[in-house]
Amino acid sequence: MLKDKNIIVGVTGGIAVYKVVDVVSRLKKQKANVEVIMTGNATKFVSPLTFQTLSQNQVYVDMFKEPRNYDVEHISLAEKADLFLVAPGTANVIGKIANGIADDFLTTTVMATKSKVIFAPAMNTNMYLNPIVQKNISYLKELGYEFIKPGIGLLACQTYGEGRMAEPIDIIEYIMDSFYKKDLIGKKIVITAGPTIEPLDPVRYMTNHSSGKMGYKIAKEAQRRGAEVVLITGPTGLKPPKDVEVIRINTTMEMFNAVEEQFDTCQVLIKAAAPLDYKPEKVSDVKIKKKEGQKDELNIKYIRNPDIAAHFGRLKKDQITVGFAAETNNLLQYAKKKLKEKNFDFIVANDVSKDGAGFKSDTNIVTIIHKDGKVNDYPILDKAKVANIILDKVRELLNIKG
Ligand code: PMT
Repeated sequence: MLKDKNIIVGVTGGIAVYKVVDVVSRLKKQKANVEVIMTGNATKFVSPLTFQTLSQNQVYVDMFKEPRNYDVEHISLAEKADLFLVAPGTANVIGKIANGIADDFLTTTVMATKSKVIFAPAMNTNMYLNPIVQKNISYLKELGYEFIKPGIGLLACQTYGEGRMAEPIDIIEYIMDSFYKKDLIGKKIVITAGPTIEPLDPVRYMTNHSSGKMGYKIAKEAQRRGAEVVLITGPTGLKPPKDVEVIRINTTMEMFNAVEEQFDTCQVLIKAAAPLDYKPEKVSDVKIKKKEGQKDELNIKYIRNPDIAAHFGRLKKDQITVGFAAETNNLLQYAKKKLKEKNFDFIVANDVSKDGAGFKSDTNIVTIIHKDGKVNDYPILDKAKVANIILDKVRELLNIKG
């Protein structure tokens, strides 16, 4: 994802430097070229050798202590930057940059760059909320500088409040989002994910093995690509992606109602969920008890749930609808039948009996079948990659349908 990207990390003097060490390590794992500039105060917290070892590049510190070819260096770093991260963003460095002060290697390079500059503020709550700091942040935001909101928690000064630098994983997500092509802006995409459950009595229910991973990945990637995303999800243990509207449901009927509310205003419906086709005819008000003296059998009558995809497939006007087919045999034959019966624009077939495919895993092995009969087979891929393949096809269809 970050291969061939030049990311400059400006490290200032604050205890959160220890988290920036992790940020640099994660950036390298994403294959970015990382160049680190440290202020003199930053070196009191962590040695430049730490960043040099992790980034596999020379670390730039004080321009005045290194009178070699410093102005060439800071200009060339500024020019090669694809993205500039300042972390921890102290009140001091934010204030300097907001007021045009360029008195060290870091601030001089920030001043000279045309790349996106992102601050990850970290400071004591009172400092963070100080109107001077807030005014500097607002002013820099007006100029196009970006800020990753600090978290709330126990701070190094042993007070509790806002000002804790964002976690490395969130900083990496923010940076990755910055490089995404925003090709789905203005499109509303509704995604269903996870299983549904159907209660039998107050303590028991039926469900299936869907973890929601496939649907959540599609939601996350669609949001990153600029779409307005509504995620309709059955019960899962997953954290929903940020900036996505989440509608939680339990039963297939509740999923049907949630899709109905969204369908008229969406351009795309992607049905990655595994809704139960049947439910018990009657839900007992009380726990079903074993009956002494009766046969060792429990007979429950099941009735059909609505087929959500088929219903909205019939109603659709300009919407693109994408289905999934979870099969254990005759994959192509059954998937083609569903494609037709549910009037999907294309269907993503997965053989859930294969290792690395279908339920619960982080990967999937899919075959995509289009309305015109075209079939694309894919090898085992990370579910995020599968999500982007699906979204690429959606984007092509949106361009055709306008
Ligand atoms: O959630 P994970 O653990 O990541 O697993 C991913 C997955 C296996 C659930 C996913 O890749 C997948 O295959 N989802 C579809 C599961 C399914 O219900 O398939 P189906 O062949 O029974 O249904 C065909 C299509 O109709 C699906 O798009 C389904 O969402 C939809 N459907 C099914 C039943 C129903 N009553 N209403 C529906 O809309």
